[in-house]
Amino acid sequence: MSGNRTFTMIKPDATTAGNTGKILDKIIESGFTIRAMKWTQLSKEDASRFYEVHKERPFYGELVEYMTSGPIVAAILEKENAVEAFRNLIGATDPSKAEEGTIRKMFAKSIAANAVHGSDSDENAAIEGAFFFSSREQA
Ligand code: CMP
Repeated sequence: MSGNRTFTMIKPDATTAGNTGKILDKIIESGFTIRAMKWTQLSKEDASRFYEVHKERPFYGELVEYMTSGPIVAAILEKENAVEAFRNLIGATDPSKAEEGTIRKMFAKSIAANAVHGSDSDENAAIEGAFFFSSREQA
């Protein structure tokens, strides 16, 4: 059965370009409820840990560097079938391949600076949410 929660980050390219409000509007208009949210900045250690699954990838260093380059917004979102519904809303990782109307098509600048993160499974949504929020904060 699919879960009803996912985790997102609005990335530094989008926060520094002043697109946080527009992206949150789009998320809410699309039927997601925000269950927890914080504006924060990742340290190198945080970003390295968060993206540890990509450690062996050639872009890992660039990704960690980029994700620590400015503020991010971390949030837990709720909707039926949330992981898949949110990935449909944000579009492909590479914004040049993202469909019209998706968040990445509208706001992303490149594969690394792709405006938003969305969890790829219910299991990762829970792990990533717990990285930023205590159980009380995400109740
Ligand atoms: P995200 O959904 O946050 O999960 C992993 C991230 O790695 C992805 O979004 C991209 O920002 C980044 N990424 C994936 N592929 C590449 C690549 N080829 N070059 C740089 N960054 C990448």
